Amino acid sequence: MNPLGRRSFMKRLGLASASGLLGSLVSPAWSRQLRNAVDRTELFSADQLATDEDFWYYMQQAFTVSPTLINLNNGGVSPAPKTVQEAVKRYYDLTNEAPSYYMWRILDQGREALRARLAAMAGCSADEIAMNRNSTEGLETVIFGYPLQAGDEVVVCKQDYIHVVHAWQQRALRDGIRINWVDLVLPSEDESYLVSQYVKAFTPRTKMVTITHVINWNGQILPVRKIADEAKKRGIDVLVDGAHSFAHFDFRIPDLNADYFATSLHKWLYAPIGAGMLYVRKEKIARIYPLFAAEKPQEGEIRKFEHLGTRPFFIEEAIGKAIEFNEMIGLERKQKRLQYLKNYWMERVRDVPKVVLSTSMNPKWGCAIGMVSVAGKTPAELDSFLFSKYRIHTTTINWEGISGVRVTPNVYTTTSQLDLLVEGITAFARS
Ligand SMILES: Cc1ncc(COP(=O)(O)O)c(C=O)c1O
Repeated sequence: MNPLGRRSFMKRLGLASASGLLGSLVSPAWSRQLRNAVDRTELFSADQLATDEDFWYYMQQAFTVSPTLINLNNGGVSPAPKTVQEAVKRYYDLTNEAPSYYMWRILDQGREALRARLAAMAGCSADEIAMNRNSTEGLETVIFGYPLQAGDEVVVCKQDYIHVVHAWQQRALRDGIRINWVDLVLPSEDESYLVSQYVKAFTPRTKMVTITHVINWNGQILPVRKIADEAKKRGIDVLVDGAHSFAHFDFRIPDLNADYFATSLHKWLYAPIGAGMLYVRKEKIARIYPLFAAEKPQEGEIRKFEHLGTRPFFIEEAIGKAIEFNEMIGLERKQKRLQYLKNYWMERVRDVPKVVLSTSMNPKWGCAIGMVSVAGKTPAELDSFLFSKYRIHTTTINWEGISGVRVTPNVYTTTSQLDLLVEGITAFARS
């Protein structure tokens, strides 16, 4: 039961502040209500707020959520809030008034300020952050730019993202490097098992290990720091695939002890689609050749990774609005809400006969992403049942021992939507 009902929450809101009143003259109702709600959040702990449907209902109004389906595949890509969408449109319109002027002389001037804001979120120096288009670009920049010779070894996990697997396989084919595969049985809450699988794969010839922070297939969080520490002890470089972790839950990139960390800002930061970020530890920048050539490819300057040619500056600049949006929510509150939502639906289906859950409910090992299947039925059957009967959009997974329907709510998801999911899974399991 929600301990803080609509009334109690509204009572705590009190009267609108003077600034709220002034804002009301110019801002739409949804943003005034959200602002009032956010203004009063100091009355609640992040745990309390996680269960407050009124607050998150206002949050939903900040997005343009489809009225005709329930989107529970936020693991694929997240929608952007209205403020981000509007910024993209505004900057695009401006660009078209005189592209070369507005793109290069106006919008691109915002890049250094944006870099500094991303670095503040990541907890590192701005000189360690390059902006690009997605995780794939960041990961492949490192995978293809890292100096390796025939016979050198890298450690890669079979449950890593498909682009990572293919990139390393391509490098092995071309350059004769060797891949030592880790094969994880997931989900797991056994830290020593997870760490030891990597350690077992290290040899004196290992130069680099790739670690996925959140396994996208079932939402498993890996103990990156522990694995990275073992790698560093052996002089092995660490590349982290942070596609699903940045702005999803609270950590700072340097806490991971990684040399390279790539993420997609259009996932959990809610930036426009086509926005990514690559972190490279300062002293490791010089050794990575950029994917797109630079004048001095071996210099220790992070901006050498940004020679992408003409690109959508209106997308890049709108990242700033996504950062603002996240600052408004606060990462701890977001994390707690996402964990709450995942456990909300999982708790309600876990005892239903034939239902199998493949994600941990412990916050240490999972956050928003959860996986479900029904014994005797295929994931595709469950996915299509949920969509045809309930208009619930999910995705099916079948990859290296992980199979099921992946369910990923977001900050705009309400528990009443998840009640429908629970109803759908239960009906399917009994059918
Ligand atoms: C773990 C992981 N790594 C990398 C990627 C690639 O992200 P993008 O398509 O934004 O480059 C994804 C995408 O879902 C992912 O889940």
